[in-house]
Parts: sequence; structure tokens; C-alpha cells
Amino acid sequence: MEIVILPTPNEVAHTAADVVDELVRSRPSVLGLATGSTPLETYRELTHRHQNHALSFAGTHAFLLDEYVGLPKDHPQSYHSVIRKDFVDSVDFAGVQGLNGMATDSEREAQDYEDRIAAAGGIDLQILGLGSDAHVGFNEPMSSLASRTRIKTLTAQTRSDNSRFFNHPEEVPKHVLTQGLGTIREARHLLLLATGESKALAVAASVEGPVSALFPASVLQLHPHVTVILDEPAASRLAYTDYYAEIQQGKPDWQSY
Ligand code: F6R
Repeated sequence: MEIVILPTPNEVAHTAADVVDELVRSRPSVLGLATGSTPLETYRELTHRHQNHALSFAGTHAFLLDEYVGLPKDHPQSYHSVIRKDFVDSVDFAGVQGLNGMATDSEREAQDYEDRIAAAGGIDLQILGLGSDAHVGFNEPMSSLASRTRIKTLTAQTRSDNSRFFNHPEEVPKHVLTQGLGTIREARHLLLLATGESKALAVAASVEGPVSALFPASVLQLHPHVTVILDEPAASRLAYTDYYAEIQQGKPDWQSY
């Protein structure tokens, strides 16, 4: 894993936007988009570059990571609506696909989604946020590390974390459709973003802990190309921050490790 620690969420967003920008300008590509608060500044920065610096997504297709079950597409908190409002409607993607949270046959919907990702040639760059319980997508603790797209039950912790987006905590759906950890691991480059102290334990467990279904994001350690971009509070529980900084500066002092 390449670990990049930056002073502020704004610098995290700019650095993440640089990674997306470089790919999107270089060739037709497929992006995986996370929703939630963490990537919002990155999406704002990419929108700014689209409007002011000729960054076009016309050659780019996108797939969403997950969707609430039981919310129609046009519900303001469906991830379909949220990503449109926060990013997609302000730029010029060639196409954006998501899971249908109203599908009556969730197994078929999940398989169809996997098929559509495969037909698009797979995901080149997957943007990921991190749950405070170390979930990625909505693969909650004890998810199979090889899981595929499927329906999952949210933990009480995640429903509580996400209640800020709803009028009442009980409105947070109990179920989601999410790409599985096995699906996510097939993306060619994973870009994991985390900001704020509330993510610090999840970051430490995922980056430096053993690979374990208890901390689903720890499975990213097995992926050959992962970039983790953190602000200082999110990195505050990591043990090897000096080492990561030296690697970034290109001068690791190997003898100290
Ligand atoms: C959202 C998603 C989730 C979030 C995670 C962090 O599509 O897949 O894994 O990335 O819950 O959410 P925020 O960024 O709101 O803290």
C-alpha cells in the first residue's frame, strides 16, 4: 500500500483529484465512485477542474459502489440521487450506472451488475471511503473477503453514522446492495480516502493490522495497487508514520526499520 498523509482534508481532496485527473485525461476509462462525505471535496475539485481546466469525463464510464435497498432512485438519499447532485450532474460522464435498490430479485440485480462491470472492461480506478468499523462499500465486519455484489444488512454503528443524512434515525434503511470485497479487489487501482479522527482506529486496523474479516478494509493489503490518502487526524493511530513520510520523500532509512 502506498500511504500518503497530508495535513488537511482539502489537500487529501486535491491529491485524490490529481489521481483521477491523470487517469481520465490519459485514456477512456472506468471509474468506481463511492458516496458518503469523504469524497465530496474530491468531487468538488474535479467539478472545478471540469468547469475551469478542461477536464472532460466524456470518455469515462462510472459505476457506483453501493445503494440502499428500498429507496427509489429519485429518493433524495438514494446514492443514485446523491452522486448525481454531488458530482455526476455537474460534469460530462459518458455513462453512470448504479445498483437498483428497488429490485425485486436482488440476486439477479447483483449478478447483472457484476456482468455490466465486466462488460465495461472492469474498473480502472475505484474511489473508496472507509467506515468507522473499517467497512468498504457496505461490506461490514465479518463479510467474506471474497464476497461478490449482494444484499447486506447494515450494522447499528453504520446506521447510526449515516443517520445524519436522514430526518430520523429510523429512516436509515437496514439493507443495502453493495459490491463485494472480491468485486472491489478486481479494480485495477484502489484509492482509499479517510479524514478525521473518527476514522483513525479503522485506518490503523486496515493498514497495519492483520488481514481479517473483522476489519474488511484490511483485505486491501492483498491488492497490488492501493493508494491510501489520509489527513493527519485519520493517520493519528498509525505506528509507522515516519516510514510512510520517508517513502513519500523517496529516502527511506531502511536501517531504522
Ligand atoms: C459509500 C460507501 C461507504 C462510505 C463509508 C464512509 O458509497 O461505500 O463505505 O464510504 O461509510 O462514509 P463517509 O465518507 O460518509 O464517512
